[in-house]
Amino acid sequence: MRLILVGPPGAGKGTQAVQLAKHYKIPHISTGDIFRANLKNGTELGKQAQSFMDRGELVPDSVTNEMVRERLGNSDVGNGFLLDGFPRNTNQAEVLDGILKAKNMPLDAALELKIDHAEIIKRLSGRRTCRGCGASSHIEFEKPKVAGVCDKCQGELYQREDDKEEVVSRRLEIYSEQTEPIISFYKSAGLLKNISALGEVSEITKNAIAILK
Ligand code: AP5
Ligand code: MG
Ligand code: ZN
Repeated sequence: MRLILVGPPGAGKGTQAVQLAKHYKIPHISTGDIFRANLKNGTELGKQAQSFMDRGELVPDSVTNEMVRERLGNSDVGNGFLLDGFPRNTNQAEVLDGILKAKNMPLDAALELKIDHAEIIKRLSGRRTCRGCGASSHIEFEKPKVAGVCDKCQGELYQREDDKEEVVSRRLEIYSEQTEPIISFYKSAGLLKNISALGEVSEITKNAIAILK
């Protein structure tokens, strides 16, 4: 299965990606997670990305596309992959197309997660992210067993800098201006599937697997 997930910030791409990657036994590649790991480790890539991420802007394509090209050069994508948060504009979608054509690995589907504005705000304002493993939880909807502590690795939970209100509204603008156009790109390619991102996490995963059959 070669799959990309598309949807606004807070739609649950990361949450669903974890489940789908387990189901299909494929690597979960999140450009946001890769940038955050680089930030944490103080790498050059992290330094390049930080100011854009903090403002809710896209990291320049020259940086992001090369990072993805390199990641897709890894042998673990032989059985497929799930891209979460990439592509995010038409240029990235075209570059991805070129990378996959050259590898003779066409996409199977682009899965769009649909969600309304009010729900996005509730999800992002209550989201907590693990400093250790990057997993998301929620103070109300996906409570960790111990407040402030990650269930998976016991790492410390924090609020992402870009989950603050002002930055969230910029991320939503960027989504509608730059990312939404790729939905018609995948629709014309006959690859687009969509499901509702509302309801129980496990129900959404079931619906995703059913529509991807
Ligand atoms: P990125 O990390 O990709 O952020 P995003 O797209 O804004 O998406 P989020 O991670 O915020 O949301 P999600 O859909 O994964 O939701 P989640 O599962 O966590 O990107 C961050 C930044 O990096 C960008 O702004 C940009 O600067 C840079 N970047 C990344 N990729 C780039 C690219 N390709 N090009 C350029 N720049 C790039 O869920 C959200 C919350 O809801 C959680 O708390 C979760 O517990 C809860 N939740 C999930 N599902 C449910 C449910 N069914 N019911 C109730 N609650 C739920
Ligand atoms: Mg995410
Ligand atoms: Zn963790």
